[in-house]
Amino acid sequence: MTVRIKVNVAGCVGHARCAAVAPEVYELDENGFNVTAEKEVPEALRAQAVRGMRACPERIISIEQE
Ligand code: F3S
Repeated sequence: MTVRIKVNVAGCVGHARCAAVAPEVYELDENGFNVTAEKEVPEALRAQAVRGMRACPERIISIEQE
């Protein structure tokens, strides 16, 4: 099973908290903006992906199960 992540990158203001708590899931550009618009990660990274989603104050990250 995989976990599908969507980030509304247009709404990202560069808090960088997502990658701070989930560095294996979310990728930032050199200015600290999330560039992970859509990604599938293995089930083993679900907890990390969820932590990153909850860490974003802008609430622009969503997660679906495949
Ligand atoms: Fe952007 Fe939220 Fe991460 S504003 S850098 S997606 S914590």
